[in-house]
Amino acid sequence: MQVTTSSGKYSAKHYPDTIREWKKEGNYFYFYTSETILEVRIISDKIVRFRYAADGKFQRDFSYAVSDRLEESPVNFGLREFEEAFELYTDALRVFIARDDMRLTITDPDGRIINQDEMGFHWQYYLQKGGKIVYCSKQIQEGERFYGMGDKPTDLNLFDKRIENYGTDAYGYQKDTDPLYRNIPFYYGLHKGMGYGIFFDNTFRTIFDFGKEREGTTSFWARGGEMNYYFIYGPELMKVAEAYTSITGTPELPPLWALGYQQCRWSYYPDKRVKEIAAEFRKREIPCDVIHLDIDYMEGFRCFTWSKEGFPEPAKMIKELADQGFKIVVIIDPGIKVDPEYGIYQQGTQQDYFCKRADGALMEGDVWPGKCVFPDYTNPEVRKWWAGLFKELVEMGVKGVWNDMNEPAVFEMGTFPEDVRHNYDGDAVSHRKAHNIYGHLMSKATAAGMRKFLMPNRPFVISRSCYAGAQRWSSLWTGDNVSSWDHLWLASIQCQRLAISGISFAGSDIGGFIGEPDGELYLRWIQLAVFHPLMRTHSASNETGFNQEPFSFGPEFEVLNKKFIQLRYQLLPYIYTTFRQYSKYGTPMLRPLSFVAQHDEKTLDRSHEFMMGDSLLVTHVSEPGMKAKELYLPEGQWYYYFNDQVYTGAQLITIPTPLDEMPLFVKAGAVIPNYDKIQYVEQRELSEEMILHVYYSDQIVSSSLYEDAGDHYGYKNGSYNDIRFKQTSDKQHFELRKKFFGQYKAAYKRHNVQVHGLPFKATQYVVDGKTFKLNNSNFAGGIVKIVVERNFETLVIK
Ligand code: NOJ
Repeated sequence: MQVTTSSGKYSAKHYPDTIREWKKEGNYFYFYTSETILEVRIISDKIVRFRYAADGKFQRDFSYAVSDRLEESPVNFGLREFEEAFELYTDALRVFIARDDMRLTITDPDGRIINQDEMGFHWQYYLQKGGKIVYCSKQIQEGERFYGMGDKPTDLNLFDKRIENYGTDAYGYQKDTDPLYRNIPFYYGLHKGMGYGIFFDNTFRTIFDFGKEREGTTSFWARGGEMNYYFIYGPELMKVAEAYTSITGTPELPPLWALGYQQCRWSYYPDKRVKEIAAEFRKREIPCDVIHLDIDYMEGFRCFTWSKEGFPEPAKMIKELADQGFKIVVIIDPGIKVDPEYGIYQQGTQQDYFCKRADGALMEGDVWPGKCVFPDYTNPEVRKWWAGLFKELVEMGVKGVWNDMNEPAVFEMGTFPEDVRHNYDGDAVSHRKAHNIYGHLMSKATAAGMRKFLMPNRPFVISRSCYAGAQRWSSLWTGDNVSSWDHLWLASIQCQRLAISGISFAGSDIGGFIGEPDGELYLRWIQLAVFHPLMRTHSASNETGFNQEPFSFGPEFEVLNKKFIQLRYQLLPYIYTTFRQYSKYGTPMLRPLSFVAQHDEKTLDRSHEFMMGDSLLVTHVSEPGMKAKELYLPEGQWYYYFNDQVYTGAQLITIPTPLDEMPLFVKAGAVIPNYDKIQYVEQRELSEEMILHVYYSDQIVSSSLYEDAGDHYGYKNGSYNDIRFKQTSDKQHFELRKKFFGQYKAAYKRHNVQVHGLPFKATQYVVDGKTFKLNNSNFAGGIVKIVVERNFETLVIK
């Protein structure tokens, strides 16, 4: 073992010495030095896990991130011995492990270096706190970019940044504030067209340094636990993203209404105000599906209670709102008021479910209700109890739960002190190890309860803090942002970054939580949020009385906000299809340009433009009074959504940005399914037609449409439709073929096909072999509109 000298609270750094022996057990390989062991597990031809026991003993192999559904598919792997190194190989990778210091070099089968250790595995004793600080360092390759890492509010490329994961209530965070609410120790590297990912599954405080501390070196480390990371090879970044979610899991489909527009405020109070807000939406015909109730609905901020004064008859209120198509989501915090008269406090105390300090005193701290205690969600028994508490709320009609303050946040102290004890599923630990999964497990327990009691309906949970893998049960929002133009950019960055970090179902507080946006900023934020999987306005302006609803900024902005919220509802079939792709394959719903065209250098550092799904490209209008915006379009042909003008990609373009438009482009050849104008998702059932916007291309382009009941679990037993479109047009004729798989009986009967950008003068169309003449009613504003039966197979226009 080599040792370098050090001073202070840490010991010297230790490094592996020569490998003395090795063994193989199935798809696990073990390499032994005098005192340490490296375990290499071949999960698939592109995923390999490395685990390093610095003192020769592995800890329990346990993870809150890894999905039970992780499947191993190791094929054609083996080991070759060389004089200086061992080589582990699969069909897609070669891992060289140096005999004398265990340094790794990972290449593709042609020997091109994907990733190479600098010092590799090393560690030091953490003299003050016990255990070890475990490190890994890698060489930065020429031109290498780094992406990922959850919600960090900084440039998409993380090169030259240092990042920390220790969930924090970051009220009013700014660009580069760190740490933030979420803890996602997963990053991507990309160089010379080769993309890979590293997921460091360790719940202690983790730090990632991308060449900031030492030029040419990336390192990551944790202040405890084991060096345990998954290496994932692409080479496509999108494939890395999918493989990462094959490890940490994908969500079930949410109820379709949760993809509608959501309105929130701290707080709508009392019930009369909630009803007024609902009535305003319906009166003004601005679509909305959800209203959130913030903490004031409770009695003295006691979770699972209702304010007797403000909400005397909650079930009745919820029913009235449900009759108008609204769902109610309520906030539930982890802090349980210390109050001997309060049932939840009594139950938790009797059963010893609250967290304790090192010497046995309860972990007490102030949050909204005053002095509180906090359930230990790392205890499976506590999670079960917590899940059970949602029964009554569901019986009252509540359809979703919002988990807040679960970093955990505590006034004055910030969070729990490190000596707090946790069960950690049977392996007692201090808060140092449990901090980063506290909110993660709170939302897991909440989702389990909501799922159980809402059955056969689907639950909706939104949470503030989490660890890697929380996408399996929860959506999230980006926390307490600010009403500023900078934050509009941050919202875009954060949602893109979360999406590539496994968590697509995310959004920001539209308009900003802190402060008061003007009409223009609010509108531009609404426009961006149409393309965020979670679309929710929220604000804290409870003291000044400022209102932040789509109709709060005067008639001109109301019309425009309405137009874009309507656009969201029109696009729901497309957004839901994109969600299905995410849920089934782990494909991020939002895709930074570097993920769309990684072979094009010019996309690699762009942060404003992104794709939502396979066919829509978006950027936000980023400054007040902006008249035009420059953006980069990746290669291909793109239709500007608002006038069908076609642009050629692989170049920068400038597009005018009047208030009633935004930079939104459709990929040529795509089919974009649309609902007609509706006020809330259930109304989609009333329409006899589903609109298909088809954008002409002379290339062969495939698109899809997924549909099911929008709720329930029938889709798991085949009650869904997977519709595939293929456009095979040329300069003189347009052709759209459709293939239909599935057994769901949709309510609509016909497709209203609207073809954009035909380059020839069309006179007739042919549906499944039958020819019809086109007449004036088929033409509108350069679009050819044709209504066909739902089960059509081929549509030709000539
Ligand atoms: C902090 C949350 O981030 C915010 O969204 C919420 O309104 C307040 N807590 C009050 O519950």
